[in-house]
Amino acid sequence: MGKNSVVILAAGKGSRMGEAINKQYLNINGYPVLYYTLKAFSQSNDIDEIIVVVAEGEMDYCKEEVIEKYNFSKVKDIVVGGKERQNSVLNGLIAVSNCDVVLIHDGARPFITDSIITNAILYANSYGAAACGVMPKDTIKIKDSEGFSLETPERETLFCVQTPQAFKYDLILDCHKKIHEDGIRVTDDTMVVERYGNKVYLYEGSYNNIKVTTPEDLELGRQILKIL
Ligand code: CTP
Ligand code: MG
Repeated sequence: MGKNSVVILAAGKGSRMGEAINKQYLNINGYPVLYYTLKAFSQSNDIDEIIVVVAEGEMDYCKEEVIEKYNFSKVKDIVVGGKERQNSVLNGLIAVSNCDVVLIHDGARPFITDSIITNAILYANSYGAAACGVMPKDTIKIKDSEGFSLETPERETLFCVQTPQAFKYDLILDCHKKIHEDGIRVTDDTMVVERYGNKVYLYEGSYNNIKVTTPEDLELGRQILKIL
């Protein structure tokens, strides 16, 4: 059995949420968003260690109000993130001690399940890189800069990608260092390995695996907790 680590990202600003505090610390049914995320990975038998990436100035708060308060003893390190998500990921990857597969997960996706975590590791071991997601429910359009529809891709070919995204550790670290040196901007980690010719296996996530992003997601989260 290989060793598996997870980097959990909580270093964003949560600007679309429009609250005074970072969205990972907002409360859903009595617990902070990040509590649910950490609980899921702590309970997974496949995860050996957790690295949490926090925003500058939020280290003590995260430690005291989440990690120590709820005794998340699998958390091996807490590191400060960077300006963009990809900077935070690189900081987290560097803090990983030694593992075969690393998962990268948004702290703001608290409704992750055990089977999605297990499958991430399984597919990363088989294919080197894997990400979960769902088929879009809507028809997706590509639009031009004037706001008019350009084309409509076949829905069967489209996939809404979520996290966790899982990789062989050496591969993702190497590719992240390269995009940093090459000054390339990405919005997720699948793009980082794709950039250097690697394929990413896409597997089924869940419609419940939402990223808490805007205020209505807090209410949606309460509803999801009822059915999980
Ligand atoms: N993230 C991070 N470091 C950054 C930016 C984002 O660790 N510099 C994390 C966020 O904390 C979040 C995840 O990446 O868990 C996904 O990003 P997103 O949903 O965009 O969160 P924010 O950037 O915080 O939100 P917004 O874009 O609305 O400001
Ligand atoms: Mg963001």
